[in-house]
Amino acid sequence: MKNYLLAIICGVGLVAASFFLLTRPVAAQNQQSTAVFDSAGRLKLPTGYRRWVFVGAPLTPNALNNGKAGFPEYHHVYIQETNVDAYLKTGAFPEGTVIVKELTRVLNPTFPDGSRTEPSGRGYFNGEYNGIDLTVKDSKRFAGTNGWGFFTFGHHPLPYAESATESSVAECAGCHIANVAKTDMTWVQFYPILRDGDKTK
Ligand code: HEC
Repeated sequence: MKNYLLAIICGVGLVAASFFLLTRPVAAQNQQSTAVFDSAGRLKLPTGYRRWVFVGAPLTPNALNNGKAGFPEYHHVYIQETNVDAYLKTGAFPEGTVIVKELTRVLNPTFPDGSRTEPSGRGYFNGEYNGIDLTVKDSKRFAGTNGWGFFTFGHHPLPYAESATESSVAECAGCHIANVAKTDMTWVQFYPILRDGDKTK
C-alpha cells in the first residue's frame, strides 16, 4: 500500500514538473522582444506583425509630389500592444520594441494622379504590399543612433528579404534624430493612439 501511494505521489509530481517545464518557455517567450539577430548581427524579418496594433497610415502619393514621391505608398505602422501600453504610460518605448512600417501601394489607379473612383468616392485605396522599413529599440546595440536601429527589408512586392543589416545614419537614423529625438525617435504626432491616448479603454 505504501509503495502504491508513493508511486502515485511521484507520478503526480512528475506530471506537475513536466507541465511546468513545458509551459514555462512559452511564457518567457511572450515577454521577449520580437527582434531576433543572427550571429552576424543581421535582423530577422519579424512574423505576425500584421496582427499588432495598427497605429496609423501616413500617405505621400505621387500626385502631391510631382509624380515622384520617394514612398508613394501608404505607410502602415504596427507596434505590439504591450509596447503601445508602455508608451502611453511612460512616454517612451521599452527596450526591444519593434516598429514595423509596411508599405502598400495605392490600388490600380485609373486617373493620372493615382486615384480611382469607388462607390464611396474618388480617392486612394489599399493595393498590394510593397516593402518594409523597421526600427528596433536596443540602447546598447544602437547607442550611436539614440538607442534605435534602422532596417529595411526591401521596397518591392512580396517576398521581402528574410534578414537585413543595419542601414546607415545617412539613409535612415539621421532624419529621425534631426526631427523626432524628443519623442523616442518615432513620429508619434502622426499616430492618433500615441498622440491622443486610447480613450476607448
Ligand atoms: C528624410 C527623413 C526620413 C528618412 C531618411 C527616413 N525616415 Fe523613417 N520616417 C520619416 C517620417 C516623416 C515618418 C513618419 C511619416 C511617414 O511615414 O511618412 C517616418 C516613419 C518611419 C517609421 C514608422 C515609425 C515612426 O518612427 O514613425 C519607421 C519604422 C521608419 N520611418 C524607418 C525608417 C528606415 C528604416 C529608414 C531608412 C531606410 C528611414 N525611416 C528613413 C522620415 C524619414
